[in-house]
Amino acid sequence: MKTFSLTLLAVAGLMFSFLGMASEHLAERHAGFGIDCVDCHLTEVPTKRAKSKACKGCHGDKVDVPLFQAEERSVDFHESPHGSVRCTKCHLAHQQPVMYCNECHAFEKAVP
Ligand code: HEC
Ligand code: HEC
Ligand code: HEC
Ligand code: HEC
Repeated sequence: MKTFSLTLLAVAGLMFSFLGMASEHLAERHAGFGIDCVDCHLTEVPTKRAKSKACKGCHGDKVDVPLFQAEERSVDFHESPHGSVRCTKCHLAHQQPVMYCNECHAFEKAVP
């Protein structure tokens, strides 16, 4: 079973590289922009999850993104009508990001 899933992973990795798609996670892409662990974690040796405060330090309190047209409404993922949401609810940095809103909605939009 383990070998099988490792093979699948390898195949997925190959497909990504053939398609020229980004297979790296957010932290690796930031490393590509010259941004180090400490810039997100605010400690030399990270032990805990990075916090939104660090993201906002560089990106500001609200990044403008295009409105997303859902079936019955326009949605601004950076301005939830339910109150403020931590950046890292959606933008995970070392694993696949998550469209947090889809705990309840069904927005067909991927998080970078
Ligand atoms: C030290 C500054 C810095 C910190 C801290 C930082 N970023 Fe970034 N981020 C950048 C820069 C520079 C870029 C590349 C230029 C751009 O797209 O704005 C970038 C790009 C991005 C992108 C779009 C590009 C991509 O590859 O997806 C996302 C999404 C993002 N950052 C989210 C975050 C989140 C979430 C955090 C906190 C966990 C964070 N950033 C922390 C500087 C920073
Ligand atoms: C509810 C999920 C969610 C939360 C919470 C969230 N984002 Fe995003 N973010 C998205 C989605 C979805 C996109 C892609 C938008 C698009 O491309 O239309 C995005 C795009 C971005 C980008 C790239 C913008 C660009 O021009 O390419 C940055 C940078 C970013 N977010 C930073 C943040 C920061 C900083 C926070 C916290 C203050 C945050 N996000 C909170 C879902 C989220
Ligand atoms: C773009 C910002 C960013 C960068 C750069 C980054 N991290 Fe993270 N890190 C996070 C976020 C957000 C989490 C929360 C969990 C996740 O995203 O997977 C996290 C989680 C972690 C955790 C897990 C803590 C826990 O208890 O779950 C460790 C350890 C960690 N990072 C270490 C590092 C190291 C080492 C580097 C540099 C090689 C690094 N990180 C670079 C944003 C970042
Ligand atoms: C815990 C469940 C839950 C989560 C998580 C959630 N929503 Fe909602 N949302 C609802 C419910 C319930 C309604 C009201 C019924 C409806 O309009 O669908 C609603 C309504 C909305 C509306 C319409 C509000 C209005 O004033 O007309 C928007 C826009 C919306 N949500 C966006 C978001 C976004 C963006 C996120 C993620 C940042 C999110 N929701 C996360 C449950 C949730």
